[in-house]
Amino acid sequence: MKIALGADHGGFALKEEIKRFLNEQGHAVTDFGTSSAASTDYNDYAILVAEGVANGDFERGILVCGTGIGMSIQANKINGVRAALVHDLFSAKATREHNDSNVLTMGGRILGVDLALAIVDVWVNTAFSEEARHVRRVGKIDKY
Ligand code: RB5
Repeated sequence: MKIALGADHGGFALKEEIKRFLNEQGHAVTDFGTSSAASTDYNDYAILVAEGVANGDFERGILVCGTGIGMSIQANKINGVRAALVHDLFSAKATREHNDSNVLTMGGRILGVDLALAIVDVWVNTAFSEEARHVRRVGKIDKY
């Protein structure tokens, strides 16, 4: 799967772990930065990743900041992006099955590495349910 990654300084360390994990799984990963723990603006990486997903260059995007919140707010401004802020395994599965989320956001200051990688694994490998009610609801999001 073609997956775009982005992080600010609050998510840099976790983003590096996610990149290593996804590469080991055989995914085609593109890292849009940041490339150090120096302070930077989450917005810039959210826009790069979200636009890449919205225009079809990538099937999915994963964004990490300190809380995941700024990344989520910014990514959801881009038409065609359904970004989900996830910090647990139940939501990781549910947001793929119910929302067909195409961007995952997480907080690098909230999650330990093991749980974050487990969330990534579930989110990447869970399909949209395609049930009529979920198709209808996602359609309403996309139409708005
Ligand atoms: C940076 O200090 C922090 O505000 C950012 O990483 C993120 O949590 C914003 O939502």
